[in-house]
Amino acid sequence: MKRTVQINGLSELKNFSERFANCLSGDEIILLKGNLGTGKTTFTKFLVGSLGGSEEDVNSPTFTVMNEYDTKKFAVYHIDLYRVKEFDITDFIGHGIVVIEWPEEDYSQYGVPVIEITFEYGDDEYKRILIVSSVYKANHVFNCLFNSD
Ligand SMILES: Nc1ncnc2c1ncn2[C@@H]1O[C@H](COP(=O)(O)OP(=O)(O)OP(=O)(O)O)[C@@H](O)[C@H]1O
Ligand SMILES: [Mg+2]
Repeated sequence: MKRTVQINGLSELKNFSERFANCLSGDEIILLKGNLGTGKTTFTKFLVGSLGGSEEDVNSPTFTVMNEYDTKKFAVYHIDLYRVKEFDITDFIGHGIVVIEWPEEDYSQYGVPVIEITFEYGDDEYKRILIVSSVYKANHVFNCLFNSD
């Protein structure tokens, strides 16, 4: 399953993040793909905010590899594999949402739902195109997001 979402400005990304947050059960892996500066970390900020956490706490974990955030709903484990290509996530699986920028391996092996969002630039500075796909057992998220369209 795959759907394309047009994002026209940061407030639309925020709205989408809110809808997305409301569709999560708490154990999903979310893979964020796309070029530098397309909005993967910004999406994560809005997602954490939407779950009742603090947007300001979210920053790029490029140097620390992983940041952990508390929210009202679930813990969020935010991983960036841009520089580090291998990072063992087994300890976090099932204990919260795992968000991975620049994912590497096949995450279907962990048995929890996997959803992928690829970020692309749109035709002006504030536009983005998000390609959302259900990679593994994530139909609940996908249906929740798109069935009402
Ligand atoms: N509609 C939009 N969606 C997302 N980001 C936007 C949008 N419009 C403008 N921006 C800006 O684009 C930048 C996206 O940067 P961000 O750090 O989120 O990208 P990234 O994909 O995480 O990059 P990296 O691969 O370096 O980690 C931010 O400065 C953000 O404010
Ligand atoms: Mg980033």
